Amino acid sequence: MRPQEIIAKKRDGGRLNDAEIRAFVEGVTDGSWADYQITALIMAMFLNELDFDEQSLITHAMLHSGEILDFSDLGVPVADKHSTGGVGDKTSLLIAPIAAACGLAVPMISGRGLGHTGGTLDKLESIPGYSVNLPVEDFKRIVKECGYAMSGQTADIAPADKKIYGLRDATATVPTIPLIVASIMSKKLAEGLDVLVLDVKTGNGAFMRDLEQAQQLAREMVRTGDSFGVKTRALITDMNRPLGRYVGNAVEVYECLKILRGEADNLMLPTRNLASELASHLLLLAGIDESKEAAYQRVLTAVENGSALERFRTNVETQGGDPSICDDPDRLLTRGLIEKSIVASADGYISRIDTLTVGKVTNEIGGGRTKAEDEIDSAVGFRCEKTIGDEVTAGETIAVVSCRDVGAAEKAVEKLTAAYTIKPEPPEKSELVIEVVR
Ligand code: URA
Repeated sequence: MRPQEIIAKKRDGGRLNDAEIRAFVEGVTDGSWADYQITALIMAMFLNELDFDEQSLITHAMLHSGEILDFSDLGVPVADKHSTGGVGDKTSLLIAPIAAACGLAVPMISGRGLGHTGGTLDKLESIPGYSVNLPVEDFKRIVKECGYAMSGQTADIAPADKKIYGLRDATATVPTIPLIVASIMSKKLAEGLDVLVLDVKTGNGAFMRDLEQAQQLAREMVRTGDSFGVKTRALITDMNRPLGRYVGNAVEVYECLKILRGEADNLMLPTRNLASELASHLLLLAGIDESKEAAYQRVLTAVENGSALERFRTNVETQGGDPSICDDPDRLLTRGLIEKSIVASADGYISRIDTLTVGKVTNEIGGGRTKAEDEIDSAVGFRCEKTIGDEVTAGETIAVVSCRDVGAAEKAVEKLTAAYTIKPEPPEKSELVIEVVR
């Protein structure tokens, strides 16, 4: 079947059948489809949408583009968490070691930054020496040795998503439910999981800006997970502000280490709290605890007694990274960057942060990619000094941007200043976890 025929059918609003979808995914995986043909079909899928059958077919084909792992010999529940993508969204770096410390095996296959959102792999690569390109045998061995492993898709695991993900990022075709479902679920189902918790972000920094869209995405993913025999739950969580204090790569790993070391400051607490919520749902689903309260307590204990930090250290060491960052997280921070403050434009309360702009600006200063092959500058980033609901006075620093170039810093400050809305009255309080979809 020629790619042109499949592209034309979707371009004209047709419904693709199993053979056409398999031909596409096989062409992506074996390299016989050119990038321009892949992106043409993805754009046609984006514009004309996929129905539930097409969505299931593409998920199935992408899942079977590589190996499906089997950890049943470990004798412990196999679990993972995945997020639909946010700004400052670093909880995977915490949840994997916490869940491992609580008795789960976590074979975490993650992605790179996508659109305006950050990616776990890019963050991990800011750890000197850390490798996210693990051959399947090493990935399995590391899960066995330290309870969790963090890797990107390889030629063996969900390779079709690896290719499509990079092209979607560079062609503005990320925010559509069927492609997000296929991307996330193909990677996750390839891990051979018993349980999966999804963090579905909603708000002005999420791909799903509206709650209804987020609910639909959550339901679709829970339905898909369950239909593949994986106990799946989704938490719909707030993305109307960057999560925690930092946005970037090295700085986000830094924030996680501060949390694991029990040194979290107030602006880091939302990161710790959300990671704890998500991890406790994993423990509940896996049957480690019978109540949410007991699971939450187990998670807090793993952080407080240092066992999660020890898992993190073992993982960094095993994946080739420098474990001394666990004792001295400041080593992750690059000195001598240009730092510019974003200051409050008036007296009042911060009532809105345009989180999409924070994500985009972080990418523009080097923290993310414009083209799939771009290099990331792991040192640059954005630091919150104040957040929604905080009272500020005109001229007070509300955030700081760090980058390499004065011109870029000035442009960033201009855009970021406009991203904050300050009003005389405090805004209504918002919840971090909006809904749990079972
Ligand atoms: N995360 C993924 O892995 N894929 C998407 O499409 C969106 C978020």
